[in-house]
Amino acid sequence: MSRIFYLLIALSILIPSCVYESEESLYPGIAVCDTVNVTFSGIISPMLSSNCLSCHSNAKANISGSGIILEGYSNVLIMQDAIRNTIRHNASYSPMPKDAPKLKDCQIRQFEIWVDSGSPDN
Ligand code: HEC
Repeated sequence: MSRIFYLLIALSILIPSCVYESEESLYPGIAVCDTVNVTFSGIISPMLSSNCLSCHSNAKANISGSGIILEGYSNVLIMQDAIRNTIRHNASYSPMPKDAPKLKDCQIRQFEIWVDSGSPDN
């Protein structure tokens, strides 16, 4: 047998094993979701900043957020049940974020984990 033949066999074994599959593409929908380090400063506050504060900041609430302020820990604490219901699109609540796609499952889970762990200011 020629060396080329063995080379081809070796390559046919090696090349497919090098195909990269991320965890996300293998398991769509249950992509890596950090459910352990769910802190207010690290996850909850940034999530609200990017998805909600364009309407619910101190400055914008009266203009576009129906007077509801979701900026800062104490405001989020007061509103936590309503936030949970709106981001889950539960019946009888206005679905939030308004006029935008639903938050990712992971983000909703993280908010619930934070609430269920006693809504710490961490
Ligand atoms: C484009 C502006 C806008 C964005 C972005 C937005 N909201 Fe709202 N939100 C509103 C308005 C306006 C209301 C008043 C009710 C209505 O018009 O639907 C409201 C109402 C609410 C209420 C009270 C709803 C009820 O039924 O009692 C909560 C809680 C809330 N928003 C949370 C959020 C959260 C959490 C986000 C981000 C995930 C968010 N909102 C993003 C504009 C917005």
